[in-house]
Order: sequence, then structure tokens, then C-alpha cells
Amino acid sequence: MSKKPANSAKVASAGGIDSTATLRANARKNIDKGAVTQTYAADKAAVIKLLNDALATEYVCVLRYYRHYFMASGMLADAVKGQFLEHAQQEQAHAHKIAERIVQLGGEPDLNPDTLTRRSHAEYQEGKDLRDMVKEDLIAERIAIDSYRQMINYIGDRDTTTKRMLEGILEQEEEHADEFADLLNGWIGK
Ligand SMILES: [Fe+2]
Ligand SMILES: [Fe+2]
Repeated sequence: MSKKPANSAKVASAGGIDSTATLRANARKNIDKGAVTQTYAADKAAVIKLLNDALATEYVCVLRYYRHYFMASGMLADAVKGQFLEHAQQEQAHAHKIAERIVQLGGEPDLNPDTLTRRSHAEYQEGKDLRDMVKEDLIAERIAIDSYRQMINYIGDRDTTTKRMLEGILEQEEEHADEFADLLNGWIGK
């Protein structure tokens, strides 16, 4: 009647998964590496470098959005200010996730302000008026979209946690770009 209990070692060996005994033995080795185990298939140093570039990009975006938030003026300023602030906070949240992942992988988040703009993909453009700010933000989002997509393609299935995190961020960058594209399309006045 009742199902036979599965032989865990046998089941685990199927489909390219190590046996339970091997999994247990491997987990005990190199425990100082924390979440990075021997099945981690990506080039860890390369992934950490990419994540640090993305981290610099996010911080430059945080700073640019705050600058735009504080400096927004004109007829549409109230409506757009809310978006600048929301984006600043969301870019900050992206930076937070990326920095945490860098540490999980055994790296160190590079938050050195001296080199931030050089390492960032996107630029810190102040924008001369509200419309120009929105245009510069749209350009920065489009840069972020391309760089995240390329990172995702590079990492592939070799580090699915990082890939999934980047996919979540990419989705939000696309929303940001879409909001600003809509704003520019319906822009009234200068
Ligand atoms: Fe972001
Ligand atoms: Fe964004």
C-alpha cells in the first residue's frame, strides 16, 4: 500500500547530482568559503568585478536622482519629483542587494567615492532643466538596461542566484526607462 521509502543516495545520484555522501563530504571542506561551494561554476573574480561596476553605477544613479529630486522646478516638478525620489530609493535598494551578493561571493564592495564615476557605466549628468533631467535619466536607465542584460547573458546558468538578482534589477530598470519615455512623449512646454 504505502510507497517504498526512496533510497536517498540512489535518488540523489540520478540526474547528475552527487550522492548524499559526496554532498556531505564536500560541504565540510572549505567551510570558510561560506555560500561559495565547489559546484559554483562561474568565474568568481570576474563576477565580483562585474558586480562592483554595477554597484558603482547604482550609486551614481542614486546621487543623480537625488540631485534631480532636489533641483526639480517648473510646472511639472511636483509630479516628476516623486518619480526622482522613488527611483533614487530603488537604485539604493539595488546597490544594497549587489553589495550583499559581492560579500556572499567572498569579495568586497568597492564604495570608494574617488573612483565612483569612473567605474560607473552611467553618467552623473545634472541636467539643465526638468526635461533635460528626465532625458539624462532615461539615457542612464538605457545604459543600465544594456549592461545588466549583458551581465545576465555572461553569467548564464553558472551562478543562478546572481543571475536571478540581476534579472529582478533589470526588470525595475526597464520600468524606470518606460516611465521616463512616457513622460517625455507627453511633455508639455519646454
Ligand atoms: Fe538600479
Ligand atoms: Fe533605474
